[in-house]
Amino acid sequence: MVTKEVEMQTNLIEIDAQSPDKEMVAQAGKLLAQGGLVAIPTETVYGLAANALDGQAVRAIFAAKGRPQDNPLIVHIADPEGLTPLVRELPQTALALAKAFWPGPLTMILGRSPLVPAIVSAGLDTVAVRMPSHPVARAIIRAAGVPLAAPSANRSGSPSPTTAAHVMDDLGGRIPLVVDGGACGVGVESTVVSLISDIPVILRPGAVTREQLERVVGKVRVDDGVLHQVSDSVKASSPGMKYRHYSPRARVIMVEADSDRYCDYVNNLDGAFALCFEEDIPKLHVNYVNYGAQGDASEQARLLFFSLRELDRLGAKTVYARAPIKRGLGLAVYNRLLRAAGFEVVVPT
Ligand code: TXA
Ligand code: MG
Repeated sequence: MVTKEVEMQTNLIEIDAQSPDKEMVAQAGKLLAQGGLVAIPTETVYGLAANALDGQAVRAIFAAKGRPQDNPLIVHIADPEGLTPLVRELPQTALALAKAFWPGPLTMILGRSPLVPAIVSAGLDTVAVRMPSHPVARAIIRAAGVPLAAPSANRSGSPSPTTAAHVMDDLGGRIPLVVDGGACGVGVESTVVSLISDIPVILRPGAVTREQLERVVGKVRVDDGVLHQVSDSVKASSPGMKYRHYSPRARVIMVEADSDRYCDYVNNLDGAFALCFEEDIPKLHVNYVNYGAQGDASEQARLLFFSLRELDRLGAKTVYARAPIKRGLGLAVYNRLLRAAGFEVVVPT
């Protein structure tokens, strides 16, 4: 039997990020409380939200995104008090990190309480929790009256959406509502830190950096999967590490070189597109998209996913991306680009 996917109408509502319209917020909250899916803006990327306590609603997230069933979701709360019912125990480190970085782009992995359906965590006995700072996200969580499970609102595998237009491109016709709160300020997903073992471990780098975390809780490790490909035989600490990620349709190759060497290398390639820094532009003779100034990791973070989507729009087939510096927020940018490149890196000599 051939089954055809039924398209639904996707409503797009624009909302003022600074003072969210109460009726629009209530509409989104009601839909979520009834088990529906709503794409919402957060300070990192857009999220595809559903009631985290409703297994059926959460199942619909996986279906809409085409997400592998073994990749767990982050649960979003509006107030720090929302954390306690979701977790089995609350270590001092979690309290200290929440105090220092919430609301904001930090996700903590803790023991999962029985309140959270197993499907949210893809069967793991842990749960990922974050309290976003975006006023629209927080207002909608409050209006829903329940914690919200929300992965990035892209089709699984493609670059995370940093505008409502990206969400419409990926999920239009598949979800009932997209709330447009403008472009996301951070541009890459939250830092994910596991607090399951004695020393906290960064599973995914983000805007809250290792240096910042260490100032609050002392030594923090960075998981091997952040900069290296985890082999299938090794159990990934974070299932999301296994998957090809953030990829545009174009093939992406990361180039580790200074500006002159990078430009020389790319100028000698036929039909290549450059994903470069601002400083490279005057030296390039090929088509390019720039993702910010060389020394400005926040700008690179804000522009990276946007630029990857732009390269597809321009019809790029092969993209040579200048590698960012792996320091501070730059580590997050590097991590996402490395995955977009499927770990293909060249070092021109
Ligand atoms: O900034 C963000 O975190 C955005 C916005 C929408 O909040 N959300 C987001 O969700 O990036 P998602 O699903 O695209 O990424 C969640 C990541 C995945 O890599 C997943 O494997 C990991 O967090 N994760 C979730 N729960 C986990 C758990 N219990 N143990 C280990 N890793 C977990
Ligand atoms: Mg994602």
